[in-house]
Amino acid sequence: MKETDPDMEAPIETWRGRSWSSAFSPEETARAVSTLESGGLIVLPDCAFALEGDERRFLDPRWLDGSRKNIGLDGSDVSGTRARGDDARDLAAMIARFARSAASLVEGMLPAYAHQIRRARTSLRPAAAEGRAQSPRHDDTRLHVDAFPSRPSGGERILRVFCNVNPAGEDRVWRIGEPFEAMASRFLPAIRPQAPGKAALLSALRVTRGLRTEYDHVMLLLHDRAKLDLDYQRDSPRREIRFAPGTTWLCFSDQVMHAAVSGQYMMEQTLTLPPEAMVHPARSPFATLERLAGRSMR
Ligand code: SIN
Ligand code: FE
Repeated sequence: MKETDPDMEAPIETWRGRSWSSAFSPEETARAVSTLESGGLIVLPDCAFALEGDERRFLDPRWLDGSRKNIGLDGSDVSGTRARGDDARDLAAMIARFARSAASLVEGMLPAYAHQIRRARTSLRPAAAEGRAQSPRHDDTRLHVDAFPSRPSGGERILRVFCNVNPAGEDRVWRIGEPFEAMASRFLPAIRPQAPGKAALLSALRVTRGLRTEYDHVMLLLHDRAKLDLDYQRDSPRREIRFAPGTTWLCFSDQVMHAAVSGQYMMEQTLTLPPEAMVHPARSPFATLERLAGRSMR
């Protein structure tokens, strides 16, 4: 493993004593934006998500229905679970409470995004991070940026709030890789533009919901090529971060190169943000890719 150049490291801000409903000063909110938009992480070691009643029973992979590795809540629909009846209702209530907690945190910490940030899926991830992938492309223990094959984003940012809810003291362990621009500079030269007509075809076949833009095409290939390049996975700069139970952390996961090395039981909230709503839109993956590739990503 290469030594990481300290100037190249993602900034990591660790703030103790914060909870879901904490108030943040104007200096802190400005710092949060600048850290996140620079490809860094905000880590809150004391922001635990408290389970209520007998919700602890949901910390068990047997609730997964086998179709995917997460239990999701979109609006009021839970998916990916075998839970039925009262169990399904209680599980949805627990995930919905996490969604409200995450929304309140984001509202307090990132008021600059207030009018444009949107809540997307919320998930409970009861499977162990290691060994859950069915293929290298799905293997999140390899460094990658997040990109969704079936849901084109057109450049919308993906902000994620994660919380380790492990009941047995086990950390969630991540690796954080090199900055987005360094990763993109490496893989972009071999990426050809999307073939004409392909976006319309994928949409007509319902492989994608809406048209896959040039941005989505490039992001998916960056995701795949980084994961499939074993030399890159072995040799690229990275460092390990451990998130103890009761820790909450946030990052733009479409920008931060990350890998989930180990750990079990996590909750996660996805939010989306139009790049124009950023304080520094030039730092978005969209703007970075247009600049590096010298072509439109629309
Ligand atoms: C990921 O987004 O790659 C997964 C993160 C995790 O499971 O810790
Ligand atoms: Fe990811």
